[in-house]
Amino acid sequence: MERLDGKTALVTGAASGIGLATAELFAARGAKVALNHLPNDKRGPTAVERLRAQGHAVFAAPGDVASPDSAEKMVGEAIAALGRLDFLVNNAGTPATMAPISPSELDRLTDEFWATILSTNLLGPFRCTRAAASALKSAHGAVCNTASVAGRNMPGSSMAYGASKAGLINLTKNLARALAPQVRVNAVAPGFVDTDWTRQWPAERKQASIERTLLKRACTPADIAAAIVFLCADATMVTAQTLVVDGGYSL
Ligand code: NAI
Repeated sequence: MERLDGKTALVTGAASGIGLATAELFAARGAKVALNHLPNDKRGPTAVERLRAQGHAVFAAPGDVASPDSAEKMVGEAIAALGRLDFLVNNAGTPATMAPISPSELDRLTDEFWATILSTNLLGPFRCTRAAASALKSAHGAVCNTASVAGRNMPGSSMAYGASKAGLINLTKNLARALAPQVRVNAVAPGFVDTDWTRQWPAERKQASIERTLLKRACTPADIAAAIVFLCADATMVTAQTLVVDGGYSL
């Protein structure tokens, strides 16, 4: 793998799971990394400290992508700390519920629920990309969004979550149009990933997801991070695509 010395990356939702694994992989390949986390999430500064102790150039980028002001400020400060921006990973996301909401439970899908989901999972990536567009163009960089198989043909945690991720897959194509020819924009669509989020699922739900998966295991955050870094740094003629990374779960 080519080293990424001199390159920079901002990863949102990087206090845990896929985002943290992505920040770690960028850092391991030599990139300078801004690790975004929710302002009150102690896991963010802890991860930054750990990675810095390992000799990596990692900066904390606290901010809430669901808040317009906070998101814009966070991206601006991250770019200032990094000095330039080559890669933006819009990974922060939320199901906004612990247990899945079945399609028939329409009354549980309140306007407030929709607003949380859309502002985090769909508007968040748009806000961060808008704030980073000029720096990304100057660097001839790339964006990768974390979508989900729930944005394609799988049910996901709720229909609002599925709609937010379907919207993100569509947004990926339009942002690819908007930022070409300088910047490539792609997405990954993970299947069942073993993270803090899915760890709380009932054992039967996890087992059923593994059984459905052709490769007979859950994806790890590192599996998804590898695809994200590939799309950002290595796939130099790929844009406007969504790469499904699910071990055959959604086939
Ligand atoms: P996770 O819960 O470990 O990571 C999500 C991260 O986003 C957390 O660190 C959380 O604090 C952060 N976050 C949430 N709202 C935020 C906000 N408004 N501003 C900044 N940060 C915020 O779970 P995971 O799985 O690593 O999730 C990462 C992405 O992967 C999400 O976009 C999720 O929708 C997506 N995904 C996860 C799957 C899974 O099976 N775990 C499957 C498909 C997609």
